[in-house]
Formats: sequence, C-alpha cells, structure tokens
Amino acid sequence: MIILKTPAEIEIMAEASRVVAEVLEIVRKEVRAGISTDDLDRLAEKEIRARGAVPAFKGYRNYPKTLCASVNEQVVHGIPSGRKLKEGDIIGLDLGAIVGGFYGDSAVTVAVGQVSEKIAALVRVTEESLYLAIEQAVVGNRLTDVSHAVQRHVESGGYSVVTEFVGHGIGRQLHEEPQVPNYGKPGQGPRIQSGMVLAIEPMVNMGGSAVRVLEDRWTAVTADGSLSAHFEHTIAIQPSGPARILSRRVANEI
Ligand code: MF3
Ligand code: CO
Repeated sequence: MIILKTPAEIEIMAEASRVVAEVLEIVRKEVRAGISTDDLDRLAEKEIRARGAVPAFKGYRNYPKTLCASVNEQVVHGIPSGRKLKEGDIIGLDLGAIVGGFYGDSAVTVAVGQVSEKIAALVRVTEESLYLAIEQAVVGNRLTDVSHAVQRHVESGGYSVVTEFVGHGIGRQLHEEPQVPNYGKPGQGPRIQSGMVLAIEPMVNMGGSAVRVLEDRWTAVTADGSLSAHFEHTIAIQPSGPARILSRRVANEI
C-alpha cells in the first residue's frame, strides 16, 4: 500500500530532509585526500544530532554507521572505515535522518580532488538522470515514467543502470511502497499522486550493470570493478506542477 502524506506530514518530512541536505553539504566539503570515511561518518553523526535529529541508517537492519560511504567501484552501502580517500577517487555519500518520526534520505557522489573528464562525466550523467526522473514525478504520469527517464539518459551516455537496488517510497518507514526502479518501459505501474513522497536514487555503472555484495554483507560493488555513481533526493509530489525536492541542497544544484 502506498501511504500518501498530508501537507502537515510533508512539512515534517521537509524538516528531516533539510537536516540531511545540510549535513550532506557539510560532509561533502570535508571530502579530500587523506581523510578517512570514518572521519566523515563521525562528522555526519555529530551534525545530525546537533540538529536534534536521529541518524536513520545506524541500527537499521544492524547497519553499523550513520553514513554510507561508497568509494569508486562501490555502488552503495559502503561501510565507513579507516580507509583514507585518495586524489582521483569518487565517493558516494548517502545519509538519512529521522525528525518527528519521519525519514529523510539523500545521496551525492563527489570527486576527491581532480578526476579525469571521463569520471566527471559519469558523475554528471548520474546526477542529470536524477533530475530528469524528478521532472517526470508529476500527477498524470505513472511510476515507470520516472524509472524510464533514468534509464534512457544513462544508457544514451553509454553507462548501465543498476537493477538490483531501487528507490522507494519514504515516510514513517525508510522504505515504503512503491519501489522505484531506475529502469523500465514508460507508462506502467501506479499513477503518481499528490501526497506521494519518493526517494529516487539512480545508481549508475561505467561498465556492466551487475553488482555483488561483499563479505561484510553490506557493501555492493560492481561485478566488473568499474566505477559507479549514486545520487538521491527525497521528493514530495504536488497537486500540480513539479515535485518539491525536500532534500534540495542550497549549493551545487543543477
Ligand atoms: N539510501 C539507502 C536506501 O534507501 C540507504 C540505506 S542504508 C541502510 O536504501 F543502512 F539503512 F540500509
Ligand atoms: Co534511499
């Protein structure tokens, strides 16, 4: 069942998502060669709690940390560790927060120092695919119009979408219905309705779409070792017009 949110509930979700956006912005500015992913995790937890919010991922199915930090060929759910970032790496930062019983969820991929144009293009196309998907999240469309927008843009760039992980409805639970795949034929699935809140999260590989999960039972990596990028926003469908991006960051928007 898809749980529609009232305007008052959406305001609370906007608050949770704003916390996520602010903290992601703080963490992304600390990304540099030599910093460890544990350092980034500690910063994220401190900044979430300083805002009176609760980290959403810590303890979720025994996930041990506040942040997911996925470096290079890691697709999603990289567990922060003593690993130090190196110039030329890319890192996906995925963060969730709970405010007033509601979740916010967002992710960005950032470069560590200078990266090649080829790598920058992967990151750019992934972010573009998120915004193209959000444009489709309007009343009158169906869910796979959103999915299709991701797939079309990603594949036209010569990249692959990950199919084993999907976006999701979000509310009092981190993961609610519907699932939001990043692929599919347009015009299928549930109708987009006012009051739906969705976390749309394209995961895009430079090589093939296959992924596998490491021994730690969390970290998803590309099967072929190619690089992968991930962006995510929590959005609320409006009665008319474009969706409201609840996790919009002040800086660095397309
Ligand atoms: N944004 C991811 C998701 O929606 C992050 C979840 S990490 C977890 O699935 F630890 F909470 F599972
Ligand atoms: Co998510």
